[in-house]
Amino acid sequence: MERDASRVADDAIATARDLLREASQVVVLTGAGISAESGVPTFRGADGLWKTHRAEDLATPEAFARDPRLVWEWYGWRREVVAACAPNAAHHALAAAARERPGLRIITQNVDGLHAMAAGHDGAPPLELHGSLFRTQCTRCAASWDDRQPVDATSGATLPRCTECGALARPGVVWFGESLDPRVLDDAVRLASAADACLVVGTSAVVYPAAGLADLTRRAGGCVIEVNVTPTPLTSIAAVAIRGAAVSVIPSLFAMDSTPAPPTR
Ligand code: OAD
Repeated sequence: MERDASRVADDAIATARDLLREASQVVVLTGAGISAESGVPTFRGADGLWKTHRAEDLATPEAFARDPRLVWEWYGWRREVVAACAPNAAHHALAAAARERPGLRIITQNVDGLHAMAAGHDGAPPLELHGSLFRTQCTRCAASWDDRQPVDATSGATLPRCTECGALARPGVVWFGESLDPRVLDDAVRLASAADACLVVGTSAVVYPAAGLADLTRRAGGCVIEVNVTPTPLTSIAAVAIRGAAVSVIPSLFAMDSTPAPPTR
């Protein structure tokens, strides 16, 4: 029985590898699951952040208007947790694939910065749909800046302030009820619509517009490949769904990617 299951997984990996090698344009859409083995908590699931915190108490503009100290305390804690984490084998394999293949782009919902860290300064940066824990932006003017400082949320007076105008600053992330940066979203839509393959990794695929990107690829004639430990709403549109941890599956999808692709039919 176990051997059958592992043969099914091997077959799915082999099929996915072929699809990825034949694709000239590839988008990789990632979610919190890809960073799970790096020690970054996911949002949903048994130990997910939304089990112990209500999204609307912490990740909405209303929550920040009501209690900026509480919201900053939570984001400061997450910044600290993530600052101690490092990219894992899945981030590194994707970064290497993006370096080798100019047609491969990473689009992430994650705010942990681990794709960018794995990529270093080479190649196109990942598109961060939901912003970054390591950016801070002004609530009044247009200023925003990289920020890896610990957050002192002991009182309203100690919260981060704008470096330009002195107004209260906020985390540089997209909250529920807010729009994504239109330039980032336009790029993501363009890439997904033009992709021959969309590889979806470690997302529960319930938050839009990110979750709709894979369907753009499929509607334009491309294929969807999913890597996740559980089924998701995207599983039914996936040409291949691989059940497994990103950290072990992703490196095997791109291993020896420089081998010439088989002749196309
Ligand atoms: P979720 O926590 O909703 O989903 C994580 C997904 O990763 C689940 O489908 C898990 O089954 C899967 N998973 C867990 N461990 C895995 C592993 N080792 N390998 C592969 N898959 C694994 O996180 P997201 O889908 O990223 O938005 O959440 C989407 C958005 O909702 C987030 O960006 C955030 C959140 O609320 C905002 O804050 C705006």
